[in-house]
Amino acid sequence: MTKASYEIIDHYYDVVVVGGGGAGLRATFGMAEKGLKTACLSKVFPTRSHTVAAQGGISAALGNMGEDDWRFHMYDTVKGSDWLGDQDAIEYMCKNAIPAIYELEHQGVPFSRTAAGKIYQRPFGGMTTRFGEGTAQRTCAAADRTGHAILHTLYQQALKHKAEFYIEYFALDLIMDDDGSCVGVMAWNLEDGKIHRFRAHQVVLATGGYGRAYFSCTSAHTCTGDGNAMVARAGLALQDMEFVQFHPTGVYGAGCLITEGVRGEGGYLTNSEGERFMERYAPSAKDLASRDVVSRSMTIEINEGRGVGAKADHIHLHLEHLDPEVIYSRLPGIAETARVFAGVDVTKEPIPVLPTVHYNMGGIPTNVHTEVLNPTKKDPNKVVPGLMAIGEAACVSVHGANRLGSNSLLDLVVFGRAAAIRAAEIVKPGTPHKVLAADAGHNALERLDHYRYAQGGTPTAELRDDMQRTMQNHAAVFRTDKSLEEGVGKIDKVFQGKHDLRVNDDSMVFNTDLVETLELDNLLYQAVATLHSANARKESRGAHAQEDYPERDDDKWMKHSTVRVDANGKVTLGDRPVVMKTLTDECEVIPPKKRVY
Ligand code: FUM
Repeated sequence: MTKASYEIIDHYYDVVVVGGGGAGLRATFGMAEKGLKTACLSKVFPTRSHTVAAQGGISAALGNMGEDDWRFHMYDTVKGSDWLGDQDAIEYMCKNAIPAIYELEHQGVPFSRTAAGKIYQRPFGGMTTRFGEGTAQRTCAAADRTGHAILHTLYQQALKHKAEFYIEYFALDLIMDDDGSCVGVMAWNLEDGKIHRFRAHQVVLATGGYGRAYFSCTSAHTCTGDGNAMVARAGLALQDMEFVQFHPTGVYGAGCLITEGVRGEGGYLTNSEGERFMERYAPSAKDLASRDVVSRSMTIEINEGRGVGAKADHIHLHLEHLDPEVIYSRLPGIAETARVFAGVDVTKEPIPVLPTVHYNMGGIPTNVHTEVLNPTKKDPNKVVPGLMAIGEAACVSVHGANRLGSNSLLDLVVFGRAAAIRAAEIVKPGTPHKVLAADAGHNALERLDHYRYAQGGTPTAELRDDMQRTMQNHAAVFRTDKSLEEGVGKIDKVFQGKHDLRVNDDSMVFNTDLVETLELDNLLYQAVATLHSANARKESRGAHAQEDYPERDDDKWMKHSTVRVDANGKVTLGDRPVVMKTLTDECEVIPPKKRVY
């Protein structure tokens, strides 16, 4: 029973995409292009989605700046993933990267250029040639605003292909049929407060990551992993949630991203002794080792008393030795960010930086076709009919335990396109929708109504702060049994705190307190999933550095973790195998070995 009565406006589509970022827009226009009646729902105007903030670039072995091969890219990605990535999906992504970039170029992305007029490519961490020997220049860049350029181009493509947009619609919950299939999604129009029920033969979740579960992150305020939480509430599993990426260079105090492209263009890190300490930790790749390695090294320097600043609690990133022309042509955005958020002129002084939460490797498990999985012991690859997931929301899994920089924009466009291809294979345009009970989707309204009239004792901002500080302190760069066990106890308590929330206003029109409360509820599912999964994994792999188990343990732990969190906060852990096979015979499986840079 709901306190208010809600009029429901029904819509019927072949496909509904939830999320208007890079992955969502690539899927949206691909589906519309294939003749499917396609809607895209987005809680923000599409070109304000967080993809707009991606800076350094998008990887593809074009070989414009020297030797390269997609098989080298595949090797680097598998190694970067610390052998938790699925090798079929990694092969698919690295091979399809090359046509994906040319497609973007032809659609109008204004990539930076070499003197010969080719797409400019810069080096990024962990990217090598010849299976680990040299340094690859593989990251295609539009200065340091690559995400902005790509997002605008994809939005224009979606308009061109006449996809229908529902902008500032907040997705509430999936509509699941009794047979376990997904048949639609419920949404709230923030502008006029009306409730909409979208029926679709495929719902595609492209809702991004959940960086805002943490206190300090490079993610936008809107990165609350709404799709992941909808999946959890549907009783489905999330995967590899313990793997949270800390980007080495967030601006100290502000958290804003300073692209890895800075180090790609020759920037470097120093400690309080002025030492280029990465030479000790990664003698070969140095400042361009993979992100987990650099973030751990910085944290060790700080913990051992060699941090910079009055509190010795951060690190310096230098680019003042670079030609100002390089800075103004290739890194104009970060020069501005450093000036505004750190008060620093990058041509004269170093930028104060700190490892900052940046990306979620975990998310909604899918196969290489982007179909969502509901893994069981008997069938770890069981598909949920009617449901797909792409982009940071998904765990396909191309990033495994650690993502390489510039593989994220690539993941968005390659798997956004893969979702369109799959949807066109399985949905016949105009197929009638199964008739549902009149109250289909009502559970979403009960949840909305519950928070709309919540009059407990805790303001949303206070509980969010508790959650963010718990995550920051207990699911950090380094973890121990003690920190994780304490963290699990605390986050379970924070989760229960949602029963005592107070929402200021019961209006249904642009009620930002209610929106933020629903987002907090979404974040809480993921915070619980992250801490419980991290506490369970007794090894160190990629971004999960467990000091009580410092080594990777392939015998026991080369497996994806799965986690279900129910509405009462009850957690059920499981696992499923890592895919150790390739799709074609054009490449070979890359066997596990020690990961050094
Ligand atoms: O450093 C960066 O420009 C971030 C890129 C990425 O996360 O892929």
